[in-house]
Amino acid sequence: FCFVLFFFLFAIFAFATCGGYTGQLRVSVDCMEKASSNLSIGIDFGYPFRLHQVSFEAPACEATRRERVFLIGDYSSSAEFFVTIAVFAFLYSLVATVVYVFFLNKYREISRAPLIDFTVTVVFSFMWLVSSSAWAKALSDVKLATDPDEVQLLIPACKIQTNKCGSVHGARWSGVNTSVAFGFLNFVLWAGNIWFVFKETGWHKGASRLAGGASEKQAGTFNQQPYNQGSFEQSGSYSSQGQPSEYSEVGGPTSYSNQM
Ligand SMILES: *[C@@H]1O[C@H](CO)[C@@H](O)[C@H](O)[C@H]1NC(C)=O
Repeated sequence: FCFVLFFFLFAIFAFATCGGYTGQLRVSVDCMEKASSNLSIGIDFGYPFRLHQVSFEAPACEATRRERVFLIGDYSSSAEFFVTIAVFAFLYSLVATVVYVFFLNKYREISRAPLIDFTVTVVFSFMWLVSSSAWAKALSDVKLATDPDEVQLLIPACKIQTNKCGSVHGARWSGVNTSVAFGFLNFVLWAGNIWFVFKETGWHKGASRLAGGASEKQAGTFNQQPYNQGSFEQSGSYSSQGQPSEYSEVGGPTSYSNQM
């Protein structure tokens, strides 16, 4: 049952660390006329990373005139996609847990329920993979676009050689890096869960007869062979053994008890 807790926690961590992110970078513009310099210009940004809407005032290095500078890029689609998947995955695992705990008998009675559960789990696994990958890519782009050294290049006054621009500090990334890690962790978790949900579908019971005959034979050879090699060869030989006589005779009730 603790296993279920991981689904909640990992999903929450994923959307909290991404959706709750705010960061600040700081640059300095040191004009030739010292009076118009600003050595500490803070630029705040955060989820949903619509950087083209993030602006700051930088000195134009002409008396007290300032100009508004915008960052570049819009990474909201990937960020919002990731958070949306995380939120829905969280809600689904919440509902699924309630069903498992309180309505397990009904769940097994309705033959479609495990089927739907299986499909949804597969879809969510896939979505975790896609959204985490998209978000990982977007995040690396965001890091580049908010790098103080890159932001300096956007300030017109910094293009004039006599003015000196520098980076004071970049944004912190540790929190939002974990959101990517949790995204992929969620993918592993959901993909692993496919097997458990698959067991609840009727397909497994049909397939276990088929696999049961093969696995009995494999059990002997398994110990003798290195782990990886063994499992690959099994899957290869498995298809060649799949003849009708095989599973009707060997795969009897005994193979059921093996699986349990
Ligand atoms: C420097 O820029 C910041 C904005 O980041 C502003 O709050 C501050 O007043 C500016 N300082 C000067 C001396 O203009």
